[in-house]
Amino acid sequence: MTEEDLYMEHMGVFMPKIAHTPESLKFNQEFSFRPDDILIITYPKSGTTWTQEIVPLILSQGDPTVVDTVPNWDRVPWLEETRASVLNLDQRPSPRVFSTHFHYHMMSPSFFRVKPRVIYVMRNPRDVLTSSYHYHAMASFLVNPGTQKEFLHKFLDGKVLFGSWFDHVKGWLSPGDHQNIMYLSYEDMILDLKVCVARLAEFLETPLDPETMEKIAQRCLFSNMKNNKMSNYTLVPKQLMDQSTSQFLRKGIVGDWKNHLTVAEGEYFDMVYQDKMLNVKYTFAWD
Ligand code: PPS
Repeated sequence: MTEEDLYMEHMGVFMPKIAHTPESLKFNQEFSFRPDDILIITYPKSGTTWTQEIVPLILSQGDPTVVDTVPNWDRVPWLEETRASVLNLDQRPSPRVFSTHFHYHMMSPSFFRVKPRVIYVMRNPRDVLTSSYHYHAMASFLVNPGTQKEFLHKFLDGKVLFGSWFDHVKGWLSPGDHQNIMYLSYEDMILDLKVCVARLAEFLETPLDPETMEKIAQRCLFSNMKNNKMSNYTLVPKQLMDQSTSQFLRKGIVGDWKNHLTVAEGEYFDMVYQDKMLNVKYTFAWD
């Protein structure tokens, strides 16, 4: 099926019709934030699911009940998805935790007024591309990725799920007067998860003792999360996500793009990256 069949276009960005409708986007635009809300914001395949596991564990002081019993899409709901309107989000106790793949300029008026806390997670776009390629191959609600080369061009042109990686990252790195943002990278999480848990706990003003930090970091290791059916998307019907093709928690490593892109494709990626990121001053973990 084509982009037209499977995606709706919102503010120039493709979003899968299965999860987003004009009504869900209206709900999102009218949503009222609280100052103590916590938003996990990502471009797809950058570490969302991982952070959706870590943050609730920090808030529960390491008590795993919530991550053992509540699927991640209800534990940390997506603001832009149709489900958000049926979850009575306005009745949830503070601090509420939400996810979104929205670009900065797509956020609701309440977001810019209230300025809730944001955890923005980034990942090397080459690994995002690789992860996304496999995701497109296993999810029936996404357009078949075609060849690696075809998908590379679509990705670099932003003609994929949630638009351009470059626009997403550049937008969130320039958030105007919204200073309540913590930047985290997938690569840092791979390098030392315990340090990242400590940084997150500090940002969330939730003191944790070293044993609890260690427990959370252990619990959120790829091998452990892969076995948590509340987090590994095996509760999603096979006709939507065929995990015999590729698993949602697929490899969980840094640098897998090297196993997929040819040397020429890697060089082409670098050339486009240099051009699009020319004026970005941020030092990325993968640079
Ligand atoms: S989505 O669809 O946007 O919500 O996807 P997202 O969760 O952002 O990204 C999925 C990739 O994150 C990897 N992942 C992890 N890596 C390491 N450790 C842990 N605990 C972990 N949890 C999820 C997941 O495997 C996807 O990456 P790839 O490269 O495909 O393995």
